Amino acid sequence: MTKDTNSLPALKKAITDLKLQFDTEPKTDVKGLKNKYLGKKGLINDLMRGLKAVPQEMRPLAGQILNELKKNLNHQLNLLGEGLPIQTTNKIDLTMPGIKSGVGHMHPVSQAMEEITHIFEKIGFTRVRYPEVDWDYYVFESLNMPPNHPARDEWETFFIDKPEHKQMGKMVLTTHTSNGQVREMERLKGKPPIRMINIARCYRRQQDATHTQMFHQFEGLVVDKGINIQHLKGTLDYFAEQFYGPGTKSRIRPFHFQFTEPSFEVDFSCHICHGTGKKGKSKCKFCKSGWHEVGGAGMVHPNVLKAGGINPDEYTGFAFGWGVERTYTLKEGLNIDDIRLIYSDDLRFLEQF
Ligand code: FA5
Repeated sequence: MTKDTNSLPALKKAITDLKLQFDTEPKTDVKGLKNKYLGKKGLINDLMRGLKAVPQEMRPLAGQILNELKKNLNHQLNLLGEGLPIQTTNKIDLTMPGIKSGVGHMHPVSQAMEEITHIFEKIGFTRVRYPEVDWDYYVFESLNMPPNHPARDEWETFFIDKPEHKQMGKMVLTTHTSNGQVREMERLKGKPPIRMINIARCYRRQQDATHTQMFHQFEGLVVDKGINIQHLKGTLDYFAEQFYGPGTKSRIRPFHFQFTEPSFEVDFSCHICHGTGKKGKSKCKFCKSGWHEVGGAGMVHPNVLKAGGINPDEYTGFAFGWGVERTYTLKEGLNIDDIRLIYSDDLRFLEQF
């Protein structure tokens, strides 16, 4: 008689009952069991006939479950036929060795973020967190980039499809951690000193060996009375030695950012050729020039200080923003030439760290 299997849960229950029934059968007459369960008029075919009653959209899944059951019972009966032991569903062999669960570790990018945070905390910086989906105002406008300013073009940005806010503009996936600058000034109600380190996810429409669509940056911001470029350079040299090891040097080159004046690109000396660009008589293959670029820096633009409620005649500051992945992959001994590997979810790669 066809069982009541006209819904998926009912079919699943019928299958569980049938499995239990099979497990408790005496396993002496294998041929008889084959007939009873897998024969033309057997119990599985009985359930198969019931498939017609299962609603159309659930039938493929139900059929798949039944086929698996059929395969499983067939396999078990074949083992029995050969005199081999089978494993029933309701019996546990307590003498079997357990499955050892692996011990994980933090993702290499999380490890790098911890190390970076620790290095800056030692010289009085505080790690802060600001939104990774933020208003256009904080990502661009308050940073001296009014709407339609060409400097925005450099940051190929993902905008959120959401009505615009009158003062704040659109919402964007943050292209850089600089959105934390004015937010931090506002948090301190325009009252320095500020020594923040903001580490967060950033998003850009980029994808190649040195760029990913989602990556991390760490942003430093220092504002106080009498802050000058020497303080910035000293901080860069301190970080270089702490993160890459003694003897690593930093270099700043003139550049342009709308939110700093003057602005720089920041390089660290290559740990393989120690800034010479040479390995023996040939070029250093790792850096080709003796230096690796990690990001930007500069003295905070007076307009940005004003946007954060700080008087630029009284206070000055410096800021920098570098890629976590980029900074990390340059570490001695890592030799990661494609940063996309970091996010590939390939355990053979990740377990090395
Ligand atoms: C900026 O994002 C500026 N906000 C940095 C800054 C902060 C300048 C404060 C002055 C003051 P830039 O677009 O160059 O600058 O990015 C900085 C670094 O982020 C790059 O050098 C690189 O290390 C990293 N980066 C940028 N885009 C990507 C990406 N798609 N994938 C991985 N890392 C990236």
